[in-house]
Amino acid sequence: MTTAESSTTDFVLQAKNLNKAFGAVIAANEVNVAVPRGAVWSLIGSNGAGKTTFVNMVTGYLRPDSGTILFNDKDITGLEPRKITRLGISRSFQIPQLCAELTALENMLVSLSSANEQASFFRPAHSAESVANATDMLERFRIVDYRDRTMAELPAGVRKLLDIAMAITGEPQVLLLDEPTSGVAAEEKYPLMDLVMEALDGSNVTVMFVEHDMDIVARYSQRVLAFYDGQIIANDTPDNVMQDDSVRRYVTGGAVATAGGV
Ligand SMILES: Nc1ncnc2c1ncn2[C@@H]1O[C@H](COP(=O)(O)OP(=O)(O)O)[C@@H](O)[C@H]1O
Ligand SMILES: [Mg+2]
Repeated sequence: MTTAESSTTDFVLQAKNLNKAFGAVIAANEVNVAVPRGAVWSLIGSNGAGKTTFVNMVTGYLRPDSGTILFNDKDITGLEPRKITRLGISRSFQIPQLCAELTALENMLVSLSSANEQASFFRPAHSAESVANATDMLERFRIVDYRDRTMAELPAGVRKLLDIAMAITGEPQVLLLDEPTSGVAAEEKYPLMDLVMEALDGSNVTVMFVEHDMDIVARYSQRVLAFYDGQIIANDTPDNVMQDDSVRRYVTGGAVATAGGV
């Protein structure tokens, strides 16, 4: 191995000195992180710590006041969300952003067609092939029974899965999930995460998910970013982060790994 090769780590995503303020609120304060390709990381931190702000900056929904975001070493800082999605970074939302009048299948078709740059928003492409692909995604997430139901008729867990399935349709290289298990019944959290991980299995997608339940964090992520007051105060394995003094003080409150459902 040459020196050049050994010094080149394959970071799919890098954030350098990101700052973002909303008036007097500092939502991102010198955020620095380099994420290796294929990693599954989690983001923790109490409400208002800056997790969603980080996701929003990486996906183009917010422009940082300063700092740089690199995707495959390319500067994507401040690009529009659509453009960033096309490049290969997808996201899901804490509150799914689904089209209320459309059925599960139609929502899926919209995201498939926007991934393929076909059809307009309100006239999704209904080719037999795209319907088959959309149905296949619904099957992979075990929500195919809901395919002809509109959003209003769907249970919260199904909406979350649909939103995540839609984020995956474009075959992203990086997938950011903002609180995928929030609003989902306690006993459905693990099955939901299992389905997501199964759907991504073998794809080498880099995943960053925001999560409050430390048991889920420990089970599904290799590394944890702990946010507090717009800063990353810990970036380490789940075990180390849970034992970190500042994390215990500012994030988990000393109550480490309260078991799900207890
Ligand atoms: N669009 C916005 N306008 C004003 N303040 C915002 C906006 N987005 C986030 N904030 C503030 O920035 C801080 C970080 O918020 P956020 O990133 O949503 O936290 P988290 O996702 O960790 O709960 C909070 O104080 C929040 O109120
Ligand atoms: Mg948030």
